[in-house]
Amino acid sequence: MLSTKNIQMSNDVFYTLRDMIYERSGIYFSDHKKYILENRLLRRVEDGGFGDFEKYAYFLRYDHGREREFTTLFNIITTNETSFFRDSNQLHAFESVVLPQTMQNMREKGIRRLRIWSSACSTGEEPYTLAMLVLSRLSQAEGRDWDIEIHGSDISEGVLSSARRGEYNDYSLRNVLPQYLDRYFSKNGNGRYAVRPEVKKMVRLSSVNLFDNASLRMFRGMDIIFCRNVLIYFDEAAKKRVISGIYDCLVPGGYLFMGHAESLLNISRAFKLVNINNILIYQK
Ligand SMILES: C[S@@+](CC[C@H](N)C(=O)[O-])C[C@H]1O[C@@H](n2cnc3c(N)ncnc32)[C@H](O)[C@@H]1O
Repeated sequence: MLSTKNIQMSNDVFYTLRDMIYERSGIYFSDHKKYILENRLLRRVEDGGFGDFEKYAYFLRYDHGREREFTTLFNIITTNETSFFRDSNQLHAFESVVLPQTMQNMREKGIRRLRIWSSACSTGEEPYTLAMLVLSRLSQAEGRDWDIEIHGSDISEGVLSSARRGEYNDYSLRNVLPQYLDRYFSKNGNGRYAVRPEVKKMVRLSSVNLFDNASLRMFRGMDIIFCRNVLIYFDEAAKKRVISGIYDCLVPGGYLFMGHAESLLNISRAFKLVNINNILIYQK
């Protein structure tokens, strides 16, 4: 049994923790989300032997081990909900218009190079979905001529290690059509589904904090970026900073997909809004 009954987060400690989290990641806990932070960190404070929230905050501020603790903290406080083929209407616009158009533009320039980035990829379903869509678009013969990279990144090391494993349960696969299931997954003895090697090898996974503009530099030159369902955790200033970093990573004419309920209203006027079959996508 956990002995959590005496450990509570005072408002002062909440403000300290909230500021430290925000300064590093852009993730913002408003006052009415204090209980979420408290609930998520309670077990860590106990299991890590920190004693109470105040000592935990002190450790994060001053201890030599604080970098490693922040890694653990981001594994705990992030919300990682995702699934394969999430928001199929958007993916249809990607597969049927954005991808062929981008590839056609390249062919006309005599280039066969494609860079796609799932910038908050959680446990990997999004970049693997994109890889499956790209693979099914390319005939095998043509595929050999293309230099394709699909990147997936996230701030949480925990979700990235699941993504690297590439094994999923039925629930993650609930939106996968049978033709994709048969072609790109194999069922393991333990009842889980493994992403097949041809898909896995297309995706490069790395730990990247979107709030850290310096580390976004390695993603310069992207043709298409997915930044879905992550800005909701940031305040307006953080959204602006992240979107400006993402803008710099796109090639001119490159596309940005946001979550279907997200928009750049009041965040950025640098993009053109494109309507593809009633799906709104941003273009640099
Ligand atoms: C709800 S998931 C979205 C996953 C996927 N994009 C989708 O739409 O299904 C949000 C992800 O954003 C990540 N995240 C939160 N803050 C981040 C930051 N500052 N930099 C990079 N990733 C971050 C979380 O770890 C989490 O995995």
